[in-house]
This record gives sequence, C-alpha cells and structure tokens, in this order.
Amino acid sequence: MAQESFTDAIALLKADHRKVEGLFEQFAAAAAGPKAKLARQICTELKIHTTVEEEIFYPAFRGKIEDDTLDEAYVEHDGAKVLVNDIEAGSPEDDFYDAKVTVLFEEIKHHVHEEEMPSEGMFAQCRKTDVDLVALRDLMVSRKQELMLQAEREGLPPAQPRAVNLQPA
Ligand SMILES: [Fe+2]
Ligand SMILES: [Fe+2]
Repeated sequence: MAQESFTDAIALLKADHRKVEGLFEQFAAAAAGPKAKLARQICTELKIHTTVEEEIFYPAFRGKIEDDTLDEAYVEHDGAKVLVNDIEAGSPEDDFYDAKVTVLFEEIKHHVHEEEMPSEGMFAQCRKTDVDLVALRDLMVSRKQELMLQAEREGLPPAQPRAVNLQPA
C-alpha cells in the first residue's frame, strides 16, 4: 500500500486531521447516494487515528505535558466514539443520521483545535519536550499500516472507550 511520508509524528497526525475534515466536507455536500460510503470512511479514519494516538502518541507525553490536556483528549475521543459506533451501525435512511455526522464533525473540529492550537495546544506542548518525534512517527506509521490492512480485510471492531464508563455500575 502506498505510504505518504511525514517529517514527524505531529505532521502525520495533522495530515490525518486534514484528510478527515475533507471527508466531512464531502459528506456535507454529497447527495444521498454516496453518504453511507463517506460516513464509513470517516468512521474508519477516526478509529485508526484515535487508536494510534491513544496507544502510541498520548502515552509518550504523559508526565511531559499537562495532564489535563491529555485527560481531556481521551474523554473527547470517547465522546466521538459513541457517535462513530452509532453511525457505523446505522444507515442514511435512519432518523438523525445526518445530524449525527454533523455533530461528530463539530466535536472533531473542537478536538483538533485543542490538539493544534498554537502555543497552548497539545502539539505545541509536545514540541517543547525531549520526545523523539521521528522515532514516534515510525512506530505510528507501522501501527497505522496494520490497522488499515485490518480495516480492508475484515473491518475494525467498534471503537472502545478508554476513559468514559458507558454503563456505570
Ligand atoms: Fe488527532
Ligand atoms: Fe485526538
């Protein structure tokens, strides 16, 4: 599979952000026909991106940037996963389908802003640490390839929350 090259881990994540924003914009402009395919693509992209961030990127910065920044990112991901799983299980004929995709885009825009915001944002904090962003990129590229292959071959399982308890005891 052709792999784009990125200067470092943050460049890779920002490219993912631009890609999914483009897909959301296509969805908003699409006729009914292509909507299901675009929504599935959006959900797959988001599942791969959040997995790579949660497994590799975020843990590399624990103890090195503000805890609140990282904690809020996990909770925001979990909020998005509820809609991702629901959209994947549904179809464009369902009530609220377009609204779910629209609201997911709003949530993602907010989350991406928190990550990319100049000086205070997560990535700006990450750049000030001693973490090797090129080594991190290599780990992320191989995990991403693995997940993309899994998505193509058998599909990815529903997104799993990591911070939010969906069914409090
Ligand atoms: Fe991200
Ligand atoms: Fe994120």
